[in-house]
Amino acid sequence: MIDYHNKYGNVYGTYFGSRPVLYVSDPQLIKQMNIKDFNVFIDRNDFNYANDLLHQSLFNMKANEWKNMRSITSPTFSSGKMRSMHPIVVDCVHRLDRYLEPKALNRETIEMKKTMGCLTMDVIAACAFGTQIDTYDDQKPSEFVLMAQKVFSVSLRSIVYLIMLSMGSKLLKITGFRFTSTSVEMFFKQAIQSIIAKRQSMKNNRQQQHMKHKDYLQLILDAKDKTAINNDNNNKDMKSIESAEEEDMDLIDGDQSDEIYGQINDKSIDMNKLIANKQLVSKITDTDILASSFQFLVAGYETTGSLLALLIYRLALDDECQRKLFQEISEQFNGQYDDYDSITRMPYLEACIAETLRLYNPLPMFGRMASQDYTIESIGLTIPKGMLVNFDIESIHHNPDYYPEPDCWNPDRFMPENRRKLVPYTYMPFGLGPRNCVGMRFALMEAKTAVVYLVNKYRFFRTPETKLHLKSQLMRLILDLRPIDIGIELRD
Ligand code: HEM
Repeated sequence: MIDYHNKYGNVYGTYFGSRPVLYVSDPQLIKQMNIKDFNVFIDRNDFNYANDLLHQSLFNMKANEWKNMRSITSPTFSSGKMRSMHPIVVDCVHRLDRYLEPKALNRETIEMKKTMGCLTMDVIAACAFGTQIDTYDDQKPSEFVLMAQKVFSVSLRSIVYLIMLSMGSKLLKITGFRFTSTSVEMFFKQAIQSIIAKRQSMKNNRQQQHMKHKDYLQLILDAKDKTAINNDNNNKDMKSIESAEEEDMDLIDGDQSDEIYGQINDKSIDMNKLIANKQLVSKITDTDILASSFQFLVAGYETTGSLLALLIYRLALDDECQRKLFQEISEQFNGQYDDYDSITRMPYLEACIAETLRLYNPLPMFGRMASQDYTIESIGLTIPKGMLVNFDIESIHHNPDYYPEPDCWNPDRFMPENRRKLVPYTYMPFGLGPRNCVGMRFALMEAKTAVVYLVNKYRFFRTPETKLHLKSQLMRLILDLRPIDIGIELRD
């Protein structure tokens, strides 16, 4: 994409199969299309994923169905909800710590991509599936891990799927060919269904009612209950959802993440207007719950794992940055490493994360589809209705006009005193506008919790096995650099 951008400029076209796709990497145009004219570019695409769990996910939903689900989902990712889920992530980090400690005592070299993948898998199992599993045991991997690996592995199935998708999604619909095999889907469906049934019986049991779970699955189950109540009231108002949203959405004092990455709750979606126009049907079905947990796995596993592995890799290569981060952690915490509010107020940690997401952006682009003909006067181009548009974040994040020495790791770019020098709309690792990444706060909470704990206890360093040029794996939809081999030792 960077080569194409250098050759053809900020707006050019290519093909996905036989279908033309426009690529855009002009910051002002990206802003215009994703914020001002969002209503034209509300959908990602018109792919029909053969009615599987991916098809039912927020990521793939269209227009009003999406607005409905997004307005219900985004409050489950509020700062308040992050605070309540934080202890679950801390437990997962403790399990990672138990795995790392013996290796640190021996000053071993470890492969970070796999190790951080074990952490993010543990977090997803605990938060989205309400299940505790051992993700670190290579000898006897749990069925959950084996099934999840099948979702992410590059297989003949995934290659055939992509080829069929590029030939038009009608083919997928006719053949019923799926991205994930039926056995994998059935496994996750049954896992969730049995947990939901258990929780339902606990809810009905007075003695167990106080044992309220605080994971993501419970939040989405609670959201389902709320929408059911609103439906019973004939959708007269959405007050209970909205007021919960308002009381919860406020950011913790000193948290700069919305300023850097954008907000996840879009006030421009006027729910009352949608309800009045009967465009919003506020309800969540059991399939929505299944799909949202599955989506958590698909969207949150590799992305957050990659962020963590590459951040620790950069710290291992740059001792000065690691020392500065360690100092900030020591000053911020007084031996208490499980305080959520404190991890949101660490400028250098925030800057290290932001720079990792710039240099190694997990998703190189995000896409939208034009819902009507759309003319860009400034360049005299009309995008026809139904055309796919990809916003090329990769080229923007590596453009020397916006980021001098773009291939160098330099967290200082994102320190508060330097941030105002950044050109607006040149930083968007979580996408842009009302359809940006809804799981952003969760990913940041998870990454910050892990990094604070790890850097406080361990020092990471370069070993003879550490590669200075990481190789990107082929046939992957997201950035996949490996092996990320680095050394680990206990701090004095
Ligand atoms: C470092 C970690 C992550 C990165 C870099 C990332 C990045 C992105 C990007 C670029 C998009 C497309 C946004 C757009 O089209 O404007 C997206 C969408 C999405 N992400 Fe993430 N993501 C991460 C973690 C997560 C996690 C942990 C979840 C957990 C649920 C998640 C759930 C989603 C969902 C549901 C969407 C679709 C939102 C919608 O269509 O309304 N992501 N993500």
